[in-house]
Amino acid sequence: MLSNNNSMLILTKEEYFELQDFINENYGFQIPSIIKVEMEISRLLTIHKFHDFATYFRESINNPNGIYLSDLISALSNHYTFFNREIYQFNFLLEKGFSEIISHKEMNKNLKLNFLSVGCSSGEEPYTLSIFFEEYLKSRITRIDYQVDGIDLSLKMVQKARSGEYQIDYLRGIDADKLSKYFTYKESTSTYTILERIKNSCTFTDISLQKFKPTVKYDCVFCRNVLIYYQKKVVVKLIDILIDFLEKDGYLFLGGAEIVDYKSSKVKYVGQSTYQKL
Ligand SMILES: C[S@@+](CC[C@H](N)C(=O)[O-])C[C@H]1O[C@@H](n2cnc3c(N)ncnc32)[C@H](O)[C@@H]1O
Repeated sequence: MLSNNNSMLILTKEEYFELQDFINENYGFQIPSIIKVEMEISRLLTIHKFHDFATYFRESINNPNGIYLSDLISALSNHYTFFNREIYQFNFLLEKGFSEIISHKEMNKNLKLNFLSVGCSSGEEPYTLSIFFEEYLKSRITRIDYQVDGIDLSLKMVQKARSGEYQIDYLRGIDADKLSKYFTYKESTSTYTILERIKNSCTFTDISLQKFKPTVKYDCVFCRNVLIYYQKKVVVKLIDILIDFLEKDGYLFLGGAEIVDYKSSKVKYVGQSTYQKL
């Protein structure tokens, strides 16, 4: 029920646990604390003009592809991200990884690189990757085709990613040179828009990792600061899925804070939360 002033929802413990069970069974991630959940759901009830959580929740469950469920999942997830986050992994690619991948590709006469960002949020990670690859290409004579696919379970984040428009706060890791080279400043909104060429190198789809069925094998898969919200037993299953998406010798990048005890004969650990497929 919404409280007297009609702005703050109070969830019963049963409602909170029912929601937690539903998310666990269907998505596998941990929902935030009850206070944070109450705040987020209050906001959704106001936006969608509902008076109580029970009705909103029922409508969400009854329409698995509907906006209510999509907004609920999005509201319960953490979408924090920024350009050049955990830059050492991009530097590794720039200094070593890209060249290695391209040598393998050239041997197989396949000159298209495919990258995947799982939990791409509002696009900063895929666009950072694209910018690093463009920088790498500067030193090569042959033009190599590439594509970055970003997936996220939040439609709202995917729409933001597609817009390619950012406040300066999210660009703080980017130096002035790259900022002027890869973005245009819009004075009316005080925002920076990513160059059309970079935008066109990235695709964004609102789908969960669990449902995603790729049509290509990827040279690099990024899944950073996503698994941290999942239960241990789910994490191992998700990493298995991510590894299946990879080409032989391809790289899987996890987040630096994600300490994962993962062992498999399919990959070797190469340091800095990075695995290479064998
Ligand atoms: C904290 S952000 C991390 C963004 C970016 N990877 C980074 O490291 O900056 C986590 C994102 O993962 C998304 N996410 C969580 N679980 C997911 C899943 N199973 N499939 C797809 N996206 C997921 C969330 O919606 C959120 O946008």
